[in-house]
Amino acid sequence: MTKPLEGIKIIDFTHVQAGPACTQLLAWFGADVIKVERPGSGDVTRNQLRDIPDADALYFTMLNSNKKSLTLDTKKPEGKEVLEKLIRESDVLVENFGPGALDRMGFSWERLNELNPKMIVASVKGFSDGHHYDDLKVYENVAQCAGGAASTTGFWDGPPTISAAALGDSNTGMHLAIGILTALLGRDKTGKGQKVAVSMQDSVLNLCRVKLRDQQRLERVGYLEEYPQYPHGEFGDVVPRGGNAGGGGQPGWVLKCKGWETDPNAYIYFTIQGHAWEPICKALGKPEWIDDPSYKTAQARQPHIFDIFKTIEAWLADKTKFEAVDILRKFDIPCAPVLTMKELANDPSLRASGTIVEVPHKKRGSYLTVGSPIKFSDMKPEVTASPLLGEHTEEVLLGLGYSRQDIFNLREIKAV
Ligand code: COA
Repeated sequence: MTKPLEGIKIIDFTHVQAGPACTQLLAWFGADVIKVERPGSGDVTRNQLRDIPDADALYFTMLNSNKKSLTLDTKKPEGKEVLEKLIRESDVLVENFGPGALDRMGFSWERLNELNPKMIVASVKGFSDGHHYDDLKVYENVAQCAGGAASTTGFWDGPPTISAAALGDSNTGMHLAIGILTALLGRDKTGKGQKVAVSMQDSVLNLCRVKLRDQQRLERVGYLEEYPQYPHGEFGDVVPRGGNAGGGGQPGWVLKCKGWETDPNAYIYFTIQGHAWEPICKALGKPEWIDDPSYKTAQARQPHIFDIFKTIEAWLADKTKFEAVDILRKFDIPCAPVLTMKELANDPSLRASGTIVEVPHKKRGSYLTVGSPIKFSDMKPEVTASPLLGEHTEEVLLGLGYSRQDIFNLREIKAV
């Protein structure tokens, strides 16, 4: 089956997570992704948090599937020459080096555009160009702080908190993938490449849109009715941390289920959707709440919402999180068990859909990874193993017209 991005050649000059997550996605969809890595060491994640000595770490294998690996020292003249050849015949170059690294290597946007005016040059940086912090190197948690996620995550009596979800890294990579695909469509119309830049701060902020909504509401009315601070607590002049409160018009909370005393994940998320109040009361065996004026409307419930959650917890006390959801789903109540990584890894539905996949690897044996979260009717993205360091160096150089002897003599592809 031909894949939509087949024939698109991508120079993958990315490392760690933000860039690799982007190029991995494009590789799943058929692009020919050639990861250019420093001879001898390669992407730092090959070595980070290793669980098997001498085998690429999961950090690397889970972000670099379906790619080729070319080792090349792109700071040396002959290495630059190889890269230039590759640039001339590629459609996209993706990079997420620290600010200015590509320019220092001699590959500014102007130079790249001169070498191949049709090429799209896509970059991830911590902050956008011209921002007063645009010289900073940035990792995930730094981005979560700079993009507004940390100040609005966690509990009101605790410090700003980082989410485990890679809002700064993989999320930025997904934004970049959208930018690249848009630029490729644009190129079909204009015949020209362009620069696509995404900052981690902007990508985090894009996901914190509702918090900027709340800042403006707070400034106008002085309170936020869906936050636990309302109506008994105090509001300052910035959006507070709301614990596990729902971010929309539906109050919700993480509630204890049977076994919570020993199992730290024996919880469900329970949402009190306004128009589902009647089914909620029926599910909980509280029909008297349906028409009670202190429960009937969302406004009436809010002052004692935590007492309502306590009553629901009493109902949950003899039910596991799975049993509870099985009952509540019959009443159309939006809820879910709090699932652990172990439960997700073994979830038959996720295995069947290709969201959790087992991939054979030359050195590691097989490993689990997260496959494409995007599903298509005409294509099932297949996940293949990440490349060993330099596994495709010869193949790529032969494709660029180098002879086996040239390749043998080329010092810039070898570790020194
Ligand atoms: N051959 C020769 N040199 C190479 C090379 C190759 N194949 N690949 C990379 N390099 C060099 C670069 O030219 C650069 O050299 P220079 O600093 O002397 O100019 C260096 O290796 C890489 O630098 P940098 O990207 O700054 O690495 P770092 O480890 O110091 O910083 C980050 C890592 C992630 C903090 C930084 O890359 C960054 O801020 N990136 C942008 C934001 C980002 O994507 N962060 C999230 C990562 S998940």
